[in-house]
Amino acid sequence: MNIKLLIPAFWLFAHSAECSGAAPAPVRARHAMVVSAHAAASEVGLDILRRGGNAVDAAVAVGFALAVVYPEAGNLGGGGFMLIRKSSGEAAFLDFRETAPRAASRSMYLDSAGNQTGRSVDGDLAAGVPGSVAGLLTALRDYGSMPPASVLQPAIELAEKGFIVDRRMAGNLRDYGTRLRQFPGTLAAFSRSGDWVAEGDTLRQPELARTLRRILQDGIKGFYEGETARLIVEEMQRGGGLITEADLNNYRVMVRQPLHGRYRDSEFLSAPPPSSGGICLSEALNILDGYDLRSLGFHSSRSVYLIAEAMKRAFADRAEYLGDPEFTNVPTERLISSDYAAALRSSIDSARATPSELLGHPDLRPHEGPHTTHYVVVDAGGMIVSTTTTLNDAYGNKVVVPGAGFFLNDEMDDFSVKPGVPNLYGLVGGDANAIAGGKRPLSSMAPTIVLRDGRPVLVLGARGGSRIITSILQTVINVVDYGMNVQEAVDAPRFHHQWLPDTLDCEQYGFPLDVRQHLAERAENVRESPGGFGAVEAIFFDWKDGWIEGASDSREGGTAIGY
Ligand code: DON
Repeated sequence: MNIKLLIPAFWLFAHSAECSGAAPAPVRARHAMVVSAHAAASEVGLDILRRGGNAVDAAVAVGFALAVVYPEAGNLGGGGFMLIRKSSGEAAFLDFRETAPRAASRSMYLDSAGNQTGRSVDGDLAAGVPGSVAGLLTALRDYGSMPPASVLQPAIELAEKGFIVDRRMAGNLRDYGTRLRQFPGTLAAFSRSGDWVAEGDTLRQPELARTLRRILQDGIKGFYEGETARLIVEEMQRGGGLITEADLNNYRVMVRQPLHGRYRDSEFLSAPPPSSGGICLSEALNILDGYDLRSLGFHSSRSVYLIAEAMKRAFADRAEYLGDPEFTNVPTERLISSDYAAALRSSIDSARATPSELLGHPDLRPHEGPHTTHYVVVDAGGMIVSTTTTLNDAYGNKVVVPGAGFFLNDEMDDFSVKPGVPNLYGLVGGDANAIAGGKRPLSSMAPTIVLRDGRPVLVLGARGGSRIITSILQTVINVVDYGMNVQEAVDAPRFHHQWLPDTLDCEQYGFPLDVRQHLAERAENVRESPGGFGAVEAIFFDWKDGWIEGASDSREGGTAIGY
C-alpha cells in the first residue's frame, strides 16, 4: 500500500502517545502484510502477494492453507465472514456462515423432558451446512485476480507433502483426544497406530488433498456436489446427522452491506447480522463515546467500570434482538443509533453496577467454545481483507468425514438451543436466534476495519466466542484512546462482561488488586481468569512514517509477515 505522509493531527497524537507496554514491537513492512494464527499459512499468503496476487487471492490461499495446517479452526467444513475493502473504498461483506439443515427444528437438541441432550456439540447432528468453500471461491471469483489453481496449490502441497506438527497442534489433539477418539475418520486422519501425531512428526493428509483437488477441478461443485457431497451425506446417515444432498446443493453465500459505525473521529466497517459482532461493537462504542476514557486512564477502575457497563448493555440486546436477518426482524438502525446509546449511557450509575437481571429480557441468558481463527491481509494496491472462520468449538463436531479428510462444524450450538439456557460460551438467546431449517445461527465473529478521514488505520478481528466482541472493542479503544501501538493494543490484558453471567472476568495478572477492589465496591462481580481471552490478529497503518504494522496476539502465537 502506498502510504502517504498526510496524517490527521488526532491520529498523530493518538499513535505517538507515550505507552511503553511490555509487548514486542509490531512487525513492520512497507507494502503488504499478512497476519494469521499459523506461520505456514501466513507464508502462503505472503508468497501469493509477492507473486502479484491481490489481498483476496492471498486471503483465499490462507483460508485453504489453514484448513490443512490448523485443523482445530481452519476449515473446509465450517463457515465464516470475510470483509473486503478495495482501495477505491468500495466494501463488501461475504457471509458464508453455516446454515441449519432443512430438517432442523426448534427443539431438536432437547429430550422428551425438555432437557438439553448435548448433541449440539459433538457428533453429526451438531453440524450446520458448511459455507467456507463456497465463501472462499466466491470471494476469489468476484474480487480475486488469480485462477483457483494458484490459490489452492499451496494447500494441496501442504496436505500431500505434509508439514511438521507443532507443539500447539500436538497438545490440542491430546487435550481433545477422548472426544476426538470416538470418531473413526478423526482417528484415521490424525493418529498413527492409535496415538495422536506428536510434535515434530510430519503430518500428511491424503484424503484432504483429494478433496482439495476435487475443489480445484470442479470449483464450488467439487465440494457441494459429487464425491465430497456424497461422503458428507454418507457420514450423516452413519452418525445421525441431518445434512442432505439437497442442503449441500442449495448452500448460498450471502453478500451483505458491512455494518457501518463511528467512534470519536473514526468510523468503522464491521459484521452485520447474522453476526452480533458489529452491532454489539457499535452499541458499546457509542455508549463509550460519551466518556473521556483517555483522561480516565488505561485500566483505571473507573474506565474498566464504564467499559464493562457498556459491554453488559450491548450483550443484553444481543440476546433479545439478534438473529439471522432472513428470519427475524433485527432493529439494527435503532440499536446502533447515538440516541439509543445516550439512553443506555444515562442508565449507567457512576457508583453502582447495574445488576444484569435489570437489563434486557430476564429469561434470556447469552448462548455460544474455544476455536475459531482470524486473518488479515493488506496488499500493495491498498486492498484489505479481514476474515474470521470457524468450526465453532475446537475441531468442530470432532468428526472428520471419512474419505474426505476434513472436520465438520458444531455451529448449530450457536443457536439458542433452549431459550434462556447458556451455550458453549455461556451466551443465552431467545426467539430471534431459535433453530429453524435454512436459518443461520447468530455469531460473534466480527472482521472489522477502522478508518479515519476515509483511510484505513486498523484492520482486525479475533477468535474467542463471545469474547471476540470484547477483545475487538478493547483493541480499538487501546489504539484510539490510549495511543498504543498495534502489538501493545492486541497484547494488553483484557476483561470481559457478557451480561449473563453477571460476572466481570479479568485476565489474571492484568488487573491490580486495588483496581479489582474498586470495581467490587461498585458491585461488579469481579473474577480473575487465567485464560480464554480470545486472540486478536491486526494490522495498523502508520501513515506518518509509511509503515504497515502487523500484530498477532501473543496469547495465540500466530505470525505477522510482510514485505
Ligand atoms: O460464530 C461464533 O460466534 C462462534 N462460533 C465463534 C467461536 C469461537 O470464536 C471460538 N474461538 N475461540
